[in-house]
Amino acid sequence: MESASDREASMPEVGPVMNPGHGEAFTPHMFSALWSAQNGWHDIGLRDIEHLSMHPATIGLHYGQVIVEGLKAHRQVDATMGVFRPWCNAERFQRSARRLAMPEVPESLFIRAVEELVAADESWLSDDFSHSLYLRPLMLGTDVSLMLRPARTYRFLLMAFVAGGFFGSDMESISIWVDHEYSRAFPRGTGDVKVAGNYAPTFVAQMNARKADCQQVMWLDAMEHRWLEELGGMNVFIVRGTGAGAEVVTPELTGTLLPGITRDSILTLASRSGYVPREQRISLDELRAGCLNGDITEMFACGTAAVVTPVGRVSDAAGAFIIGDGKPGPVTVDLCAELTGIQHGTSPDPDGWVHHIAQ
Ligand SMILES: Cc1ncc(COP(=O)(O)O)c(C=O)c1O
Repeated sequence: MESASDREASMPEVGPVMNPGHGEAFTPHMFSALWSAQNGWHDIGLRDIEHLSMHPATIGLHYGQVIVEGLKAHRQVDATMGVFRPWCNAERFQRSARRLAMPEVPESLFIRAVEELVAADESWLSDDFSHSLYLRPLMLGTDVSLMLRPARTYRFLLMAFVAGGFFGSDMESISIWVDHEYSRAFPRGTGDVKVAGNYAPTFVAQMNARKADCQQVMWLDAMEHRWLEELGGMNVFIVRGTGAGAEVVTPELTGTLLPGITRDSILTLASRSGYVPREQRISLDELRAGCLNGDITEMFACGTAAVVTPVGRVSDAAGAFIIGDGKPGPVTVDLCAELTGIQHGTSPDPDGWVHHIAQ
């Protein structure tokens, strides 16, 4: 386990983090709140980030009563900080909590945590627009008990790290591996919420993807292994046609994929830019045939971490196929620019998506 001196050595002494990876350059504070049936939310506030001291029989560790979120704060053109659609994350965190029989964090407490942490640690973020502060809310059951029941006490935490590009600094196309061996989620399971237990079972498929020289896994539906669902931590879109009027299509929400906030934003931006947004089932057969005959011109993944990432190649045991010319397509580039423009305050924000943090 990392010691305090190791941690200090890994942080710059003062000033912004210049070369962040993803999920490693943590800022010096965290926000914490406790919950019990008797006291509700209490012991609330910002504090120095620290290791947690937990009894080995803490319920969340054994039975996975753990939920997470992911959202980002961006440096604005006027040097202030703005957080992208935090109310949506607050709402999804509540939905995840209900699914795991946990108490809900009120939206006001969630937003307060975000505001206080970003205000305290924004100096760790450089003014490089490709960097952002990734905010990670976490809640876990903290009872010391191995009874198979929901915890009666909980801890809500918010931490932050400085994030560079998820796949590196440039917008390069990634390759994805279609998994036919495992399932990520199944009907009436937990695929549409952000519970910690959704992620570890995907690591083995991710390792297979790496062996096949792909950066990400594409999950198919669990029942027929036929319909595209999403990637491990991103939603997916295809583009049919070109130019104004091109269709920007993403798998419909079936209850087994995560309703991404970036996905929702892209659907809105696509419509505003004159494209035709669609939510519908897309089969792997259609994807393969559409890419080969040119109907499908582009494909991209999107999410808080990945922003908008072009997909250039899709592989499985049956072989690989290229989307378009394998390079980032114009619709993908356009939608990415629209999204990041709003996030950084360089484009108008007609829907009020950016929550400006008071300094
Ligand atoms: C499984 C999964 N799908 C999609 C997404 C993208 O969601 P969002 O755009 O809200 O980050 C995420 C990230 O939270 C995820 O974990």
